[in-house]
Order: sequence, then structure tokens, then C-alpha cells
Amino acid sequence: MPDDDQRGACPFSEAARRFDPFGPAYQADPAEALRFSREGEPVFWSEVLGHWVVSRYGDIQDIFRDPLIFSPANVLEKITPPSDAMLAVLKSYDFNLQRTLVNEDEPVHTERRRALMGAFAPEALAGHAPHVRALVRARVDAMIDRGEADLVAALLWEVPFLVALQFLGVPEDDHDKLRAYSVAHTLNTWGRPTEAEQIEIAHGVGRFWQYAGGVLERMKADQRGTGWMHDMIRANRENREVVTDNYLHSMMMAIIVAAHETTAMAGANMMRRLLEDRAAWEALCARPGLIPNAVEECLRHSGSVVAWRRVATRDVQVGGVTIPKGGKILMVTASANHDPRRFDNPDALDIWREDTAAHLTFGYGSHQCMGKNLGRMELRIMLEELTRRLPHMEMVEQEFTFLPNTSFRGPERVLVRWDPALNPERRDPALREAARDFPIGPPDPKALARDVVVAEAHIEVEVVLGLVLTATDGIPLPGWSAGAHVDLILPSGESRRYSLCGAPGEAGYRLAVLREDQGRGGSRWLHDHAQPGTALRLRGPRNHFRLDEDAPAHLLVAGGIGITPILAMADRLQALGRDYALHYCGRSRGRMAFLDRLARDHAAALRLYPGDEGARLDLERLFAETPRGAQICACGPARMLDAMEEAARARPDVTLTIEHFTPKPALDPAREHAFALDLSDSGITLQVPADRTILQVLRAAGIDIASDCEEGLCGSCEMPLLGGEADHRDRVLSRSEHAAGRKIITCCSRARGDRLVIGA
Ligand code: FES
Repeated sequence: MPDDDQRGACPFSEAARRFDPFGPAYQADPAEALRFSREGEPVFWSEVLGHWVVSRYGDIQDIFRDPLIFSPANVLEKITPPSDAMLAVLKSYDFNLQRTLVNEDEPVHTERRRALMGAFAPEALAGHAPHVRALVRARVDAMIDRGEADLVAALLWEVPFLVALQFLGVPEDDHDKLRAYSVAHTLNTWGRPTEAEQIEIAHGVGRFWQYAGGVLERMKADQRGTGWMHDMIRANRENREVVTDNYLHSMMMAIIVAAHETTAMAGANMMRRLLEDRAAWEALCARPGLIPNAVEECLRHSGSVVAWRRVATRDVQVGGVTIPKGGKILMVTASANHDPRRFDNPDALDIWREDTAAHLTFGYGSHQCMGKNLGRMELRIMLEELTRRLPHMEMVEQEFTFLPNTSFRGPERVLVRWDPALNPERRDPALREAARDFPIGPPDPKALARDVVVAEAHIEVEVVLGLVLTATDGIPLPGWSAGAHVDLILPSGESRRYSLCGAPGEAGYRLAVLREDQGRGGSRWLHDHAQPGTALRLRGPRNHFRLDEDAPAHLLVAGGIGITPILAMADRLQALGRDYALHYCGRSRGRMAFLDRLARDHAAALRLYPGDEGARLDLERLFAETPRGAQICACGPARMLDAMEEAARARPDVTLTIEHFTPKPALDPAREHAFALDLSDSGITLQVPADRTILQVLRAAGIDIASDCEEGLCGSCEMPLLGGEADHRDRVLSRSEHAAGRKIITCCSRARGDRLVIGA
């Protein structure tokens, strides 16, 4: 709670004072309800809730990162103080829920988590896939000829429930009774029941507690049982100090809810969002390879876990606000997932979004959801069966209702209809069996590709082909920022990277392709075959070559075809009204693309250096004359970029941002050594063998890390480096960043010594 000074000064806005997490705005859309906070008041005190509310991605990630300062001890505390009558009812059932994996502190949490993680490894989870598939198929079989359904009742609730029971090794029991218990537990912990409702809820929770105890006793008697709870029972037998009797009983109750309720709600959110966006639904039906990413994007956009709680163990600053020791915190992860500081265009549901797996719906760090890959598998299988067998399904007009609480969200019903006469498998019965499976783990951005068509093809200059690409599926191509590139996928399946260079507001993607007769053949194919109507596919756009728009001055340097991203940067700086200079080198004017456009739009800033005219760019002088704090952006041949990096050594007060297109040599196991990798946020140590990258080892341990090029070129796999000396092998961090040793590119860089510590 704020101290007296803070109360007296009343530092929070009217919107913050009015914020009510049980009110209709938050219940309908928690991310939207906290837009005011993301935009201008990222941490505020909620009088209604008695908690500090945190809404931005970076602040919430920092809180998750430090379980010592931000203890999870209050995660399962009743958010609405219970009445004496409610406590008396709970006592009559001997209710005594205490610590579980979600609310225990260090060091015991990490020790237990490590001991219990084996069943969640991707290889172990793969064995559950056929069971999930059979459950989903049976339920789709049951409804497919009916023509209408409530997807929650028919599929989305029951499948995660049965999968959870199998995973835990808990015998199947009365589904309806357990559903009622789950609702009572959620309202008891995260809801705001009235005094009268509290009594009814307390009876439900008490019965759930006794039910969990009874199941536990039955399971203890079965010495040969399999499943995660049996692992816990064995751990309790072997080490009663670490896995106590109460811990076992508390986990039994909490895990039954945690293992299925969140997945069921996530499925309901997913189906609602996708059926509301017909173009996205149809794209998925046509291209099932997009399903893993679509699931992830739904988890980001409309996840089922919208908030978590923590308590500060000392006075601490978050987002510029001091939270006092003992202050309770509500981290609204749904808001973080819509933070424009982390996600471009965050309010749009974009099933092609490449960094969507960075969402915080699964939490982060040492308390990240252990069952995330099981949940992903279930959601993917459900979506795959529905898009394949009922692509003509439509949403019925309806009002969505939600269980009123702060933390878990999914519509209680999702009503849909379809015409059974149009079921595809009436024409082709084999479709029922034509399932497609996906690897376990986060989605692979490489599986994402859009269909495009060449709208325009012309020779820019003697060796440079200009292309304009447009979408073919009616979904507009996403916006892009200066410096962005796309990966063009050729009919051979190979991909080539090209920067975007269109004019602001231009429809379609404009790019320029240099013919390289000694290259791998991609540019030759495009020069020889691309013409209006040619169908291609592409991934992206993404941007690893960003303008710092706040820099006081900009120098743009292009060599040859490197002019493409530089041209877009010049357009952007001009639109912003900034000072900039553009230096453009090439072999001859006849090989330098866009000279007319540059002369038209950027004449005042332009300096040309055609080699055959004896013009040379003097890099030393260029750097010497660059104003302090400026950003120099450069793209061109490797020789030119290496020379610029060398020249930049003399000007540490200037930022050099370069775009490389060629990686350093690949890993050679014969020359490498193994090393230990400490993960500070997760509290575990991994071994990186000589023939594996850090990125591969992290993935195998179930830790989600974004990646793209996996060649040290894009920077998407960057992690904080907290200890040890790195052997930097990337081409994305600057020399000064390498020297500072605070970041590491995990797809290629390694340890110089025998240990590294990273923030993961
Ligand atoms: Fe691109 Fe590592 S994935 S630098």
C-alpha cells in the first residue's frame, strides 16, 4: 500500500483510481482496460484491489526474473478477503491449501521444479499425442453431423480435462462434479464473491479439498501407477522433507485445475478469435502449417492467464514507482502482451507474427508454466481437426460471458454452426484420417510463409531487377519499417533475403535483386523467370537493421545493392524532418540502382562515389566529422562493412549499425569445447557440448527462445550475458557490445572458458 506521502500527494490518475478488475471493462478485455496504464502510468496503486498494478511488458518480465525480490508467496491467496463465516466453512472441511509449485519461494522451488521436470520434456510429451488425437477425434465425430455445437461443452473443456488426468495418472472421475469444483476454486482464489456466495463457494472448495485427498489416498495404494502425480507420490515416500504430505495434497488440488482449466479457456479464446476473423480462419484451413503459430498468436492476443501476483520482499522501484516492502503486485500479462514496446501492431491478431512466442501468457523465468508444451500440443490438435473437418464452421451471434475473476479468462460458451451437407468428408471420407502432426515446442518461424505474386518486374539498371510483390489471399501484406527485409522462397524451396525499398504508403513490397552469376542461383532464377503473375512465397518482413529515430544525427552509407534498405531509411528520415547525409558507392553509375529517385527525393543529402570515376569514400574522414551521438547505418559488401567497423573503433561516441548478409563460418565440433551454462532466471545449469549451440541446448531444456536466421545475422536469439567470457561469433552486435560483454547471440557464440551465466 502507498505510504502516507504518496497518499497525500495522490500521485495516480483518475483512470487509475477508477480501475476495477472486477468491473465490466476488465472482465470483457483486460488488455484494453489497461491501455491508459501502458501508455502513461505503467505502475499504479489500485485502491479497489489493494494491489500495485503493473502493465508493461518490460516491467513484468523484470518482476518474473527476480523471485527473491518479488516473491510468488501470494499467488494462491484469496484476492478478496474471506468472511469469518467462509473461514469457518473451510475449516469444517480441514481445508489447508499451502505451498505448491506456483507459490513457493527459492531455493526450494527450483529444487522441486528440477526434480519434477522430466515428464515435461518434449520427448516425454510426444507419447501423449496419440491419446490427445483420439480424444479430439471422438468428440468431433460426435458432433460433426449435428450442424451446431457449443464448442466448450462439446470439446474444449473435456479434452484438456481428460488429458490432464492421464498425464497426472489420476483416475477418471465425475467430470461435472470436478468442473463445479474448479469453478469454486477459481472464484475462491481470484474472484470477488459476495458474502452469501462465499459460503457456497467455501463448500465447493472444501469438497474439492476432500476429493483431492481421497484420490491421493487411492493413488498411494497403487505402487505401480504411472503419471506425474505418481512421480510426486514416490518423491514423497523417498524424501518427505522436500515433498511433504501437505505439499502433495495441495499440489493434487491445484494441479487438477491448473492442468486443464487454463488450456480449456485458451481453446475457447482461440476458437472465438479465429472464427471472428474469417480471413485468418480460411488461411488456416488452406494452410495448416500455420496452425502452431496461430495457436501461439491467440495465446498472445487473448490468452487464458491474464494476470499473476507477487509480493515485494523489500522496497523496490518498478517502472519509476517505489513499491514498498510487503506491497502486493498484480502483473497483468494480458496487457504486457499488447505492449507496443514489445510487439508491433499489438492489438491486431496476426497469425503470421514471427515473434509471437515471446508472449507472457505462460509466465517467464523460474515459474514459467511447466505444462506449456502439453497445452500447445492439445490446442494445435484441436485446431487441426476442426479446420480440416469443419472448415465451413461459423460463429453464431452471441454474447460471451466470463467467470468474474482477476486472472483466468475464457468464454463460458462458444456457439457455432455449419451445414452438415457441406462436410468435406461426405465427399471424401479419407479426410477424417488425414491428420497432420506438429513438432512439440514453440512454433518454428521458418514454417511461416505468405503467398505473393509478382505485380511488376522491370530492369532498374543493367544488373538490378526491380520487383513489386502483392498478396494473393486478400489479407493485406503487413506494414514494415525502414531497414526491414523479407525472405523470398523460390520454387526450389531455397530462400533469399532482400531488403524492402518501397516508397512510403506504396501498396505491395518493392525490392531490388542484383544478378550474381557466381552466386547460388537465386538471383539468376529471379532475373530469368520473374514476371507479372509469377507466384512466389515469402516470410517476413522483419527488421534487424533499425533506425534509431531519436539519434541527434544520421549518416547513411550504401555500397552497391546495399542501397535498398538505405533508401527506405532516407525516406523515413526525410518524412520525420531529420538531418541526414547519404553516401552511395558503386562500381559505376550504370550499375547503381535508384539514381533518378535519389536525385529527385534526396538530392540535398546525396553524395555519389562511382568507382570508375575515381570517386572514393574516405571513411576515416567520415567518422572524424560525424557529430557525437550520431547513428551511422551502413549496408553493402563485407569488405566495406569490415572497414567501417575498423574505422568506428576511434569513435565510441557514435553508433554504427550495419546489416550483414553473410554469416561467419559454421560450428566445427572438432575445434570446440563443452561448457556449463547457468540460467539465472530459471535457476538451472545446462551442459553445452562441443557439437551443440547454446540455442539448441536451451530449446532441448524446454526454454522458449526466439530465433530466425540461426547464423548470427539477425539478433533475434540475443540473451543477457551475466557472467563468464563469451567467444562472440555473430555479425549483429557491435564491437563495443562484444567488448562490454553484456549480451550474447545464442545461435552461434560460445564460452571462452568453462562457464557462462545468462538471463533465461
Ligand atoms: Fe539470428 Fe541468432 S537466430 S542471430
